[in-house]
Amino acid sequence: MQQPQWDPQEYARSGAFVPELGLPVVDLLAPVPGERILDLGCGNGTLSAEIVRLGATVVGVDASPEMVAAAVAAGLQAEVVDGARLPFREEFDAVFSNAALHWMTDPDAVIAGVARALKPGGRFVAEMGGHGNVASIGVALTAAFARRGIDVAPMRPWYFPAPDVYAERLVAAGFAVDSIQLIPRPTPLSGSFEAWLDTFARSYFAGLDPATSAAITADVVDLVRPWLCDERGRWTADYVRLRFAAHLA
Ligand code: BEZ
Repeated sequence: MQQPQWDPQEYARSGAFVPELGLPVVDLLAPVPGERILDLGCGNGTLSAEIVRLGATVVGVDASPEMVAAAVAAGLQAEVVDGARLPFREEFDAVFSNAALHWMTDPDAVIAGVARALKPGGRFVAEMGGHGNVASIGVALTAAFARRGIDVAPMRPWYFPAPDVYAERLVAAGFAVDSIQLIPRPTPLSGSFEAWLDTFARSYFAGLDPATSAAITADVVDLVRPWLCDERGRWTADYVRLRFAAHLA
C-alpha cells in the first residue's frame, strides 16, 4: 500500500532530516557539470537542488502531486510519475534516489525502468531503507494492531531489502554493482514520535476512526518508548540504510 498523501509542510517539519542526511549519497553520485540526472522520488526537491547546484541538469519525479508541486514551486523541473512505470528511454547519465525506493514495493519494475532510462554505461546511485530498518517501530505497529484483531502484514507499505537480495535484482536487470552496503544510522527525531508516525506511517492509519487511531498510536508510543526514547525524552529511530552504486554493464 502506498502512502495515501504527503503534506509538504508537515514533511518540512518532521522530515527535514531526510534530505540533510542524504548528502553523502550526492557525494557518491559525484555529478559532473552538464550531466542529465533523474532524481527518482525527488520529494520536495531539496537534493535535486543540491545536484543542480553542482552543475547537472535534474529531472525530478515523484508519485506525490503535493511533493512535485513543492519541487516545482522551488524552481525545479519535476513531474508526477509512478516509480514502477518510468517512461524514459536512454535519456539520463545517472539515476539518483534518496529515501524513496523503499516506498516502491515492486522493486523489479522500478529497477527495469531505471535501466531503460539510462544511457549505456549510466549510473544508478541510491540510498533506501535496508533490512532491519525501523524494526522496533514495525514490531510495535504489528503488536498494537494485533491487539485489535487486525493483521497489518498485508498493509506494510515499505520494502527494506538485504544487500545481497537487492544486488541480485540489479544484476538481473543488467547492472554491475560497484558498491552496496547496509549502514545502521540511529536517527534523532526533530519532532515528536507521534509526528514521525503521522508523516511516515500514515497509511497504517488510513480508514480508522479518530478514537481507534489515537488509541493505537498511544499503544505504539508506549511499546517503543523504552527502546527509542532516552532518559531526557530524546527520541531516536532505528534507521538502517542500504546504500549502493551500480552502472549499466
Ligand atoms: C526511511 O526513510 O527509512 C523510512 C521511511 C518511511 C518509513 C520508515 C522509514
